[in-house]
Amino acid sequence: MGIFQLELQDVSFSYDNSKLILHEINMVIESQDFVLITGQNGAGKSTLLRLISGILKPKSGTVKINGRSIYRQKDYFKMIGFVMQYAEDSFCCDTVFDEIAFASRNFGLDRIEERVQNAARIMGIDQEAFSKSPYDLSNGEMRRLAIASVIAHDPFLLVLDEPFVGLDKAGKQFLRKVLENWKKNNRATVVVSHQLKYLTDLANKIFNLQSGRLSKVDSV
Ligand SMILES: Nc1ncnc2c1ncn2[C@@H]1O[C@H](COP(=O)(O)OP(=O)(O)OP(=O)(O)O)[C@@H](O)[C@H]1O
Ligand SMILES: [Mg+2]
Repeated sequence: MGIFQLELQDVSFSYDNSKLILHEINMVIESQDFVLITGQNGAGKSTLLRLISGILKPKSGTVKINGRSIYRQKDYFKMIGFVMQYAEDSFCCDTVFDEIAFASRNFGLDRIEERVQNAARIMGIDQEAFSKSPYDLSNGEMRRLAIASVIAHDPFLLVLDEPFVGLDKAGKQFLRKVLENWKKNNRATVVVSHQLKYLTDLANKIFNLQSGRLSKVDSV
């Protein structure tokens, strides 16, 4: 796996062309970076993650990967694993196996079985659950499934929006361990979270977003 550098340059965004939701955001995310973003409700955190993930385009400014605009790189989505806030509300497959395989199949990747097995192992999902409906899982299992379904295609960057919300203590500790290993494997992570005690020592870059303006903070 090569070098990975994602860069946001002066990114501004509005949903309706009037009120700016994000103001000239600058950020660099590289291999092994663990980026933590905090901020109050409505500050624009989820919007920022959608821009990082390429789902939304800036009104002005650019998002580049390894120096080139992501909008000219159709492979960009393969490099990203984005777990939306409340991801478990939008499972789309009938079985856990198919849910984990979904993105990899869409990307036309090979070794689907192996990918699913690997992602399930990382996320602690039992083989016995493969034939179940995603909605028959517990809340904690659903969250782990949501993450498994974005790591099966082996992205460089994991983008997580409030992944700790609703998990019990064991679930939080498990997820924390997963993220620690992800970093050790030289991958990058961006997390929006209020659960700071699980993440501040992992994070090497911490940002606060306030009314759409991003500032770097030394500690929280
Ligand atoms: N699809 C949308 N269309 C129009 N406005 C939106 C849309 N999504 C979010 N907004 C607005 O953009 C602003 C930022 O929302 P966003 O969801 O990014 O905030 P957030 O920091 O993630 O909040 P929370 O902590 O509640 O998840 C809010 O004023 C919100 O109402
Ligand atoms: Mg949000």
